[in-house]
Amino acid sequence: MDFVKFMAEVEGFWGIEDYFVEAQGKTLGGDKSARLNLLMQDALSCQACSLYKTRNRLVFGEGSADADLMFIGEAPGADEDRQGRPFVGRAGQLLTRLIDKMGFDRADVYIANVLKCRPPGNRNPLPSEIFACRHFLLEQIDIIRPRVICTLGKFATELLLERKIGIKSARGRVFDFKGIKVVPTFHPAYLLRNPRDKILVWEDAKTILRILGKEINE
Ligand code: URA
Repeated sequence: MDFVKFMAEVEGFWGIEDYFVEAQGKTLGGDKSARLNLLMQDALSCQACSLYKTRNRLVFGEGSADADLMFIGEAPGADEDRQGRPFVGRAGQLLTRLIDKMGFDRADVYIANVLKCRPPGNRNPLPSEIFACRHFLLEQIDIIRPRVICTLGKFATELLLERKIGIKSARGRVFDFKGIKVVPTFHPAYLLRNPRDKILVWEDAKTILRILGKEINE
């Protein structure tokens, strides 16, 4: 094991701020993929909450390190936990269709979650788990620096906006996170139960496309 990996494991084990790993990341400069990789090594050995004990695979996130658009969901479900990839189950298929309708490939955008490990039985993330895991997501955002972040559901929205705000009052509006536009919308799992609200999600997608100056194909 190389030294960086070893330090990532030590820092992950103690659940402490990853000073060493972050410093290594800074020396990597603009190499975003390498920095994401390093961060993933850190996440792989994280034991800051108990979810590492019950998960099968870490679901770190995937897509382009240079993405203009980033989607942030809640936490891996059973399919994601099995495959180690975000949004690959039924809700994921819906998200993939939306990405496609927006004129992107999944590989053009970046997809991540608030939690990197699956909560057992797909229960909601606990505040303590969100607190323990949030620095990974914040660092992913810091590395990628997308132009727009689309938060899917209340957990991602409330994490970035740093306040309690239901998704129903947040969606339809554009917020700011460190100079990045945040467009909240409904989580695809909610859409599976409430398909009539797909039209509102498409409205939010069009807002994103307008911000990015991209063509809208109805
Ligand atoms: N739901 C999420 O929030 N994230 C996933 O990756 C899959 C389902």
